[in-house]
Amino acid sequence: MFQANQASFSMATLNGKNILLGITGGIAAYKSAELCRLLRKQNAVVRVVMTRGACEFISPLTFQALSGNPVHTQLLDSDAEAGMGHIELAKWPDLIIVAPATANFIAKYSQGLADDLLLTLLIASTAPVAIAPAMNQAMWSNPLTQRNIRELQTALLEQVTFLGPAEGEQACGDIGAGRMLEASELCDAVEEVLAVLLDADAGPLSGQRVVITAGPTREAIDPVRYISNHSSGKMGYALAAACAEQGADVVLVSGPVQIERPKQVKVAMVESATEMMSSVDQEIALGCDIFISAAAVADYSPVMVADQKMKKKGEDDVVLNLTQNVDIVATVAARPSKPYVVGFAAETNDVLNYAKGKLVKKNLDMIVANDVSRSDIGFNSDHNAVHIITANEIIEVPKQSKKELARSIVKSIVLNSKTRKSTTKLDKKG
Ligand code: PMT
Repeated sequence: MFQANQASFSMATLNGKNILLGITGGIAAYKSAELCRLLRKQNAVVRVVMTRGACEFISPLTFQALSGNPVHTQLLDSDAEAGMGHIELAKWPDLIIVAPATANFIAKYSQGLADDLLLTLLIASTAPVAIAPAMNQAMWSNPLTQRNIRELQTALLEQVTFLGPAEGEQACGDIGAGRMLEASELCDAVEEVLAVLLDADAGPLSGQRVVITAGPTREAIDPVRYISNHSSGKMGYALAAACAEQGADVVLVSGPVQIERPKQVKVAMVESATEMMSSVDQEIALGCDIFISAAAVADYSPVMVADQKMKKKGEDDVVLNLTQNVDIVATVAARPSKPYVVGFAAETNDVLNYAKGKLVKKNLDMIVANDVSRSDIGFNSDHNAVHIITANEIIEVPKQSKKELARSIVKSIVLNSKTRKSTTKLDKKG
């Protein structure tokens, strides 16, 4: 999930922005009063929508005073409709933040219910939505809540971002994940989400250097034969184009492929896993914020490479001794000052479990799992279907063109890589 990286965005991001603050019924509603104040302090225009439950915890009058605007509480309110009707209100915000967001609210939103004003606005709005969960740790970790979050993220991947929750002591005395982020963290995160989602001109990856591997490697047996696989490079090349679209400075380290080079991307062509490793090393030494390993690197290569074409010697069987190649993505991820590292998992069965295993074993920040047993996706197809997996979440991205899919993967990388930076910052402080 996403936390604020205070240093990276200017204070001007919120200036004049319309922020709709949705409040649902949780004890953390008191923190939203401070959030409202902080947003106003940064010159955002704030309108508040409260559910019936929220009004049990804190008075709408408090938010009226803090936001400087009437507070909206009911769907069927003729006075409110005469002022700003609910459809008009749904079109008004540059960003909607729901803080606190209860388990009940998340469940309803994930199912597309619209039985109160806040849910109706959310269903009617195309604005980016930030959700700050706040609930008891057992409710947060309940598989039903986690399923609802996954469904919401899968259905509204482009629109919805989760902010937190944090871990710690809760109002009920429990300790664990479920606390709402502090108001100042939420305010920073809102700025960050706005900057990422709305600052399309500069691109959220502007100023970042991304190194991507793509295609197969070829492991020579002799001057005319090699071991390789069916990778076409399409997935890695689409990712390179998607990162460049978002303003990144992109370097593609590519195995042998027959596809067009993406525009505005530096390409380094290599043959073997060893060459790919040394090219990746050189590029990372020049600076790398994000490393994406989409290449189908051969796991093994012949121990001996014959100088001349190997001749048949009359035997029916030939034994080829193989040795394990360097694991490029694991090597990069093992470095002390590693970039944000994204691997792929090419699996034919038990896809999610194997992928989760590789995420941990290779010390990756994210892994993109694809089923390479299918001929309509994966190797050499123009399409793919994946699960994007991090330590906190699994997002299913259904079958679509590799170009479109690459854009979704890059959006997830943008949001999650910022989370990791802020977490590292907090770790250092602590
Ligand atoms: O190129 P396309 O035809 O478009 O096909 C796309 C793809 C199927 C190749 C791509 O989506 C994909 O899954 N790439 C990863 C293929 C792979 O090698 O997966 P793996 O599960 O064996 O490896 C796991 C991770 O380790 C991968 O990020 C891989 O790049 C990396 N690896 C593996 C071995 C090695 N020696 N070094 C590595 O860096």
